[in-house]
Amino acid sequence: MCNRFRANKKGRRNVIVFNAVSKRYENGREALANLDFEMQTGEFAFITGHSGAGKSTVLKLLTVIERPSSGEVFCAGDSLRRLRNREIPYYRRKLGMVFQNHQLLFDRSVFDNVALPLVIAGYSTYDINRRVRAALDKVGLLGKERLSPLQLSGGEQQRVGIARAVVNKPPVLLADEPTGNLDPELSAEIMGLFYQFSQVGVTVLVATHDLGLISRYDHRLLTLHEGRLVEDYQETSEYESGFEEARDHDFEDELDVAHTTGEV
Ligand SMILES: Nc1ncnc2c1ncn2[C@@H]1O[C@H](COP(=O)(O)OP(=O)(O)OP(=O)(O)O)[C@@H](O)[C@H]1O
Ligand SMILES: [Mg+2]
Repeated sequence: MCNRFRANKKGRRNVIVFNAVSKRYENGREALANLDFEMQTGEFAFITGHSGAGKSTVLKLLTVIERPSSGEVFCAGDSLRRLRNREIPYYRRKLGMVFQNHQLLFDRSVFDNVALPLVIAGYSTYDINRRVRAALDKVGLLGKERLSPLQLSGGEQQRVGIARAVVNKPPVLLADEPTGNLDPELSAEIMGLFYQFSQVGVTVLVATHDLGLISRYDHRLLTLHEGRLVEDYQETSEYESGFEEARDHDFEDELDVAHTTGEV
């Protein structure tokens, strides 16, 4: 077990640890060089940098779509180096993933799209119903569960993608350019949703070019340049004061509250 996983002196736990991580793709391209950073429970961080800086590669290592060339990544209690291939789907249940291209199934209803991770994980019909409605309520889409995603706007479709990412109540939420196709107002709304999840203890890492949207929220900003971490900036003021409260909050309770208010 990596020492950096233990609770630090303020009692916060590292949920994500990059330990001297480098990634060289097969074509010889060095996408990440000696990357070191940690993220704690309930942290809200953006990762930014020029096109090709390595942002998506960081997320691909966390989702184990790619493996590091050297160094080690830890996430949600697992050493990813030690994960066997057959263990990867179970590990991924601890991650919520949101992409620019939200990859919804257009021949299924909104409900079915959000329910998918729960169906795969073998939840009961009762739990699926309860959790899907809670997640849709959370993103402001309760009442639209019978529609096809084709009947929704781009922003609403992206929110369905977010509901699907969080329906399993993962401790970690990862997003790669989640607002790339949206106008500034909808993008701000999506970022606001991510921030809310961090406030209930979810560790949220968002790769984005959209720096204009970032400044509204207390956040941490990791900047990559040619695969190297060149800046790690923490906006602390309100974030710090909100943190202890966030840690005491349980995401399940939060979703259950949403459920009870959304369902008579
Ligand atoms: N599968 C791959 N094979 C080879 N090289 C790759 C692969 N994926 C990414 N790269 C290279 O690694 C570097 C980092 O790519 P990455 O996709 O992580 O950048 P990014 O910061 O997400 O860029 P963008 O802002 O354009 O999405 C780039 O030079 C890219 O060309
Ligand atoms: Mg990218």
